[in-house]
Amino acid sequence: MISNRINHSFNGIITIPGDKSISHRSIIIPSISNGVSEINDILMSEDVMHTLKAFKTLGVKITIENRRILIHGKGLNSLQSPNENIYLGNSGTSARLLTGLLSSQSFTSIIEGDKSLSSRPMRRIMDPLKIMGAKFDNLSGQLPLKIVGKELKNSKIIIDIPSAQIKSGIILAALNTTGESTIIETNITRNHTENMLKFFEADINVQKKGSDTCIKINGKKQLYSKSIYVPGDLSSSAFFIVAALINKGSKISLKNININPTRDGIIKALKKMGAKIEIKNTRIFSGEPIADINVEYSELKGCELEPEMAQFMIDEYPILSIAAAFASTPSIFRGLSELKVKESDRLELIRLNLNRCGCKCEVNGNDLIITPSKSYNKIENVIKTDYDHRIAMSFAVMGSKIDNLKIEDSESINTSFPNFKEIFNNCGGNVL
Ligand code: S3P
Repeated sequence: MISNRINHSFNGIITIPGDKSISHRSIIIPSISNGVSEINDILMSEDVMHTLKAFKTLGVKITIENRRILIHGKGLNSLQSPNENIYLGNSGTSARLLTGLLSSQSFTSIIEGDKSLSSRPMRRIMDPLKIMGAKFDNLSGQLPLKIVGKELKNSKIIIDIPSAQIKSGIILAALNTTGESTIIETNITRNHTENMLKFFEADINVQKKGSDTCIKINGKKQLYSKSIYVPGDLSSSAFFIVAALINKGSKISLKNININPTRDGIIKALKKMGAKIEIKNTRIFSGEPIADINVEYSELKGCELEPEMAQFMIDEYPILSIAAAFASTPSIFRGLSELKVKESDRLELIRLNLNRCGCKCEVNGNDLIITPSKSYNKIENVIKTDYDHRIAMSFAVMGSKIDNLKIEDSESINTSFPNFKEIFNNCGGNVL
């Protein structure tokens, strides 16, 4: 449990830890490449360490020296049958991506997770993989999942659910499948897997076809090891961006942050609300766009966001909701069904906790409606997180304006941002 005292402003140059999505892929892809890959600035969080441990269990030699990791990849078929179940903690990304990768290996494996991960939907990745011939011994559609690895057949898969985890799982299965596999994505989702695979010289081709994205992968082609620099995580940055925006006198600068256009919805949404955010020094690093982000306190107004926006910022609605609570007018965020199947039911927890803080917030179907007040009198000071890191960090930011919020199960923050409290307090926060 963490609690807080209100504080006045956030200032300074802030170093944000490595991007979580890119960190997972920085272990998975080098592990099936040929040669030694050097990974710099990887996120050392619990989720990422579960992926790392999984690949050690699968026989990959991985050494860690300070913030540098060396991965000794031996090719697409070099993974070894694990002699224990693979435990993935809270990490949905590890679960979905490994399900795809392991379904096209020549051995059987079992993946499992914590209570939250074991209640999250897995059919969304199992069903398209079954079209490719994948075999699972599982009736529940949830973890634990027994994956009976086998040779898959190249297929055409259409993905209607906006999920980069599903897409990435299928791409990883297709890499070890003979012939050309085609994936049609009807929504735009983060494309870090595609970017990294191009960087590793995979035979992958991505084309826009109207509103669809068509990804073609020619399987069984060798990947070549590379050095990767993991950029700062925009999702983690968002907590600091909003903290600066809602506290008078704040001025912060975040360096080397990933600004991949499939992920930057939070910047667009906040700018629509009147945020003073400046993106500077944009450049490409290990196949990904990065930039420095300057933010200063701003008088925000509410905004309406349509369902299409969700695919560009699905992880940022909890912290965007905190910004909306300090705007001058109401906000409506539409089409958030995917928020219900994250690490917690985020739609419900945003509603519940904003109401506990004294902010009027309603859920109407899949829409979130936030009606801000000029000042808040909390109704209850306990924030329920259901062990969800992003709910915990979002309400830590709320705590910069409302004294003494008690955030339950805040250890969950370690899944994505182990030194959050230290960095937050160093730039002006007051988390106890
Ligand atoms: C992720 C994809 C998203 C996101 C998650 C990370 C990834 O999940 O919410 O935090 O790294 O591919 P979905 O694919 O379920 O939308």
